[in-house]
Amino acid sequence: MPNLKVKVGRLELQNPVMPAAGTFGYGEEYASLIDLNRLGAIVTKGISLAPQEGNPPPRIWETRGGMLNSIGLHNVGIEQFAQQKLPVLRRFKVPVIVNFFGFTIDEYVAAARRLSALEGVAALEANLSCPNIKAGGIHFGSTCISVIEITKKLVKSTNCAIIIKLSSQVSNIKEIVLAAEGEGAEAVTLINSVPAMAIDLDREKPVLGGVTGGLTGPAIKPIALKAVWDAASSVKIPVIGAGGIMDYRDAVEFLMAGATAVQVGTANFIKPTTMVEIIEGIDAFLEQRGLKNIREIIGSAQL
Ligand code: FUM
Repeated sequence: MPNLKVKVGRLELQNPVMPAAGTFGYGEEYASLIDLNRLGAIVTKGISLAPQEGNPPPRIWETRGGMLNSIGLHNVGIEQFAQQKLPVLRRFKVPVIVNFFGFTIDEYVAAARRLSALEGVAALEANLSCPNIKAGGIHFGSTCISVIEITKKLVKSTNCAIIIKLSSQVSNIKEIVLAAEGEGAEAVTLINSVPAMAIDLDREKPVLGGVTGGLTGPAIKPIALKAVWDAASSVKIPVIGAGGIMDYRDAVEFLMAGATAVQVGTANFIKPTTMVEIIEGIDAFLEQRGLKNIREIIGSAQL
């Protein structure tokens, strides 16, 4: 059996496959559909200090080749997460990565402090890339100055591994990932959804309650792959690739482009067993090629 183990910062994962935040609830919702213990890690939806109502409906819209979402980071808040959601996740043996956000830098820092004190949190993924809120998210992830400031404060304020989740909607992704690495991020995740929208012809109005949203699914895979390629050639820290991964072949493309691990998002809505199939597919792919270790394909696509 090929060795699928990877290291993402200080985390040791049994394989490189995990859900993308916001596509897998708090993890427990999928526990009756797939064996969570098969995953490389569990990634929760984004958590904030206080509960959030999110954006008005409709929040999800299917498009050609993808899906729009404008959830507005609806979540139960840290205290309810700590009391009701995390205890369920502690029953599984895979590391739990908690995605989190704030509307100000101080809120990010306070959320990181509180979350890192909770038993069972293996790493924190800071969402600096959500396109669906008026403050926070992509507003903090689009310039080097703000990525430097927030990463530095997060790393100082907690002993937990900090992963920075970034958008492709920046002028120079290489500078942004270098900024995160320089301030002590242990990994970066690329990419979040791509800002987008749809119009309802009959109502002559935007479809989504939040007006604009984020596009995910196969339509954005080539954009994500390019971002991962650029990032992986710029930094030494691991890059977690996300964006339109629907099957093991997509996942292998990301690994070959330099991703150390991959996140699966939209595919979870279509077929909840996709991640397990991807793990099995990567395993079979390596075996067919006579490769013993997944490291042999990470970054193997070279000029
Ligand atoms: O609207 C949302 O909750 C999306 C979040 C994200 O893309 O990070």
